[in-house]
Amino acid sequence: MNQKIRSCFSRWCPDRAAALLAAGLLLGLAGCGPAGKGTDTIRVGVALYTQDDTFISTIQQDMERLVRQRENEQQLKINLSTADGRSNQTTQLEQVDRFLSQGCDVLCVNIVDRTAAAVIVDKAQEAGVPLIFFNRQPVAEDIRRADNIYYVGAQAEEAGRLQGQLVLQAWQTQREQLDRNGDGVLQYVMLEGEPGHQDALLRTEYSVKALTSAGVEVEKLASDTANWNRAQGTAKTAQWIGQFGEQIEVVFSNNDDMALGAIDAFQEAQLELPLVVGVDATAPALEAIRQGELYGTVLNDAEGIAEAMVDLALALTRGENPAQTLEMDEGHYIWLPCQQITLQDLEENQNG
Ligand code: GAL
Ligand code: CA
Repeated sequence: MNQKIRSCFSRWCPDRAAALLAAGLLLGLAGCGPAGKGTDTIRVGVALYTQDDTFISTIQQDMERLVRQRENEQQLKINLSTADGRSNQTTQLEQVDRFLSQGCDVLCVNIVDRTAAAVIVDKAQEAGVPLIFFNRQPVAEDIRRADNIYYVGAQAEEAGRLQGQLVLQAWQTQREQLDRNGDGVLQYVMLEGEPGHQDALLRTEYSVKALTSAGVEVEKLASDTANWNRAQGTAKTAQWIGQFGEQIEVVFSNNDDMALGAIDAFQEAQLELPLVVGVDATAPALEAIRQGELYGTVLNDAEGIAEAMVDLALALTRGENPAQTLEMDEGHYIWLPCQQITLQDLEENQNG
């Protein structure tokens, strides 16, 4: 770049020189670029797959709150900027380019398309910027490409298994109520998240496995994607109610928003609710548990994810080895544990 400017000046091409000068000035004014490093301001770019997702916007809010907290505790300035990928990988790549060209110190990416991670890895490596993927998990090959690439999230199998165990426990303790047709088989429908998302694939698989491996006979009436979305969850469930009505004994949902959508559909149809379970533990889901509508959920620790990312980003900008202060698997992965939540847990928590 410097050489380009010099050679350009020596040949005197005023337009290009002026453009480069202006670009340099702009970068300088925005306080970005490598010159920003070494000062007390840490720049963290956060690229979200979409802001229009209950769980993801919770992570975003938690990050913002934690950043303010760390600023006060540690007397530093953290500049957190967020970009909404609007579920479009091309849009997100442009946002990544912008963060890198503005000289961010750490880049956090909630990738739109998990299979596009290699492109982002290339860009971050070229810019020498540490990269933290979260919630949407690229393949291990992409994460292991370099030491300064990380993944923060929950284990997809674990959430599925815990969800299945919630249902298993209910089946063992309230069989009469649950087994509506009394055939000893658990008839269920499955609301799946986005196709290809690790949490959709593995939660679907492991929730049912928790039952079958305990010897429970199950029958899948229907399963389909509702893309993590409440309204789509309602539409799908309404369709299944039309087909199967009260034969549905359990609704497994890969997340809470779709589970709440299923509850909406049963209420609109004025049918008694089957057992409905979700994942995430969003605020509206906890409220639905208190109301006795949602049987249970599994905590997907938004706050833990946010905190791990903020602290990882801080450690990296200080040039520390993050594995010394954060619990890290294989030098790349930070896993947040999941936890079952039912009405009983909420009540115990309130009293305890
Ligand atoms: C899942 C979460 C969903 C949705 C999705 C987005 O972990 O359970 O509600 O937010 O991530 O990637
Ligand atoms: Ca049955």
